[in-house]
Amino acid sequence: MKGVILAGGYGTRLSPLTKVTNKHLLPVYDKPMIYYPLENLVNAGISDIALVTGPEHAGDFIELLENGEEFGVNINYTVQKKAGGIAQALGLTRKFVGSDNCAVILGDNIFEDSFNDSINNFKSGAHIFLKQVEDPERFGVANLNENKVISIEEKPKKPKTNWAVTGCYLYDNEVFEIVKKLKPSGRGELEITDVNNYYIKKGVMTYTKLDGYWTDAGTVESLYRASTLVRTKKR
Ligand code: G1P
Repeated sequence: MKGVILAGGYGTRLSPLTKVTNKHLLPVYDKPMIYYPLENLVNAGISDIALVTGPEHAGDFIELLENGEEFGVNINYTVQKKAGGIAQALGLTRKFVGSDNCAVILGDNIFEDSFNDSINNFKSGAHIFLKQVEDPERFGVANLNENKVISIEEKPKKPKTNWAVTGCYLYDNEVFEIVKKLKPSGRGELEITDVNNYYIKKGVMTYTKLDGYWTDAGTVESLYRASTLVRTKKR
């Protein structure tokens, strides 16, 4: 299993904090944001990790993380020239992933749970991680029937459930073929939700409900919340 961390985008919702740096380099309590998803992958035993980011601040990531020795892993860098969505960024790692499966994590997601068991048990298809939230309209939302995910809606105005699809995804190698066939969404991006719906339709999507805290950190409020959650847990 290879690891992929997606740390692109312009972080416009955090402006002016992101005027001269990348969102994923901002602090979440006592560490740069990017450390958290990186540690999630490292702790799950993944040793080869690709980090995808824009050209503007790629050098700062290299300066911070170098080749990954400090974390006991090997980090490769991939440049996403223009922000074209999570699925597009993932597509850029095709050569790096080769014929392996991949664990994809969004650089602005802060998870308390460990992914160790899910990653070790993953064989094929796709696997997502769900968490109940108070503001599901901000996320991909899973529609559940009995114990099956029947579809995912990206940022629905009227969410049918409050189960958010968090930013960690396990995929088999078919994901790269799926990404190739995607069409840009209304916001002009290749959506990871479209990838997930493909796997759902094929009947090979599984999921885990997370027990621990989870938040994104892409808005001023959620960035503040992320720091508070990490701080509370540490103390
Ligand atoms: C993205 C995904 C969304 C997911 C969220 C998790 O949203 O599109 O499905 O729930 O990450 O953080 P974005 O951060 O691009 O708005």
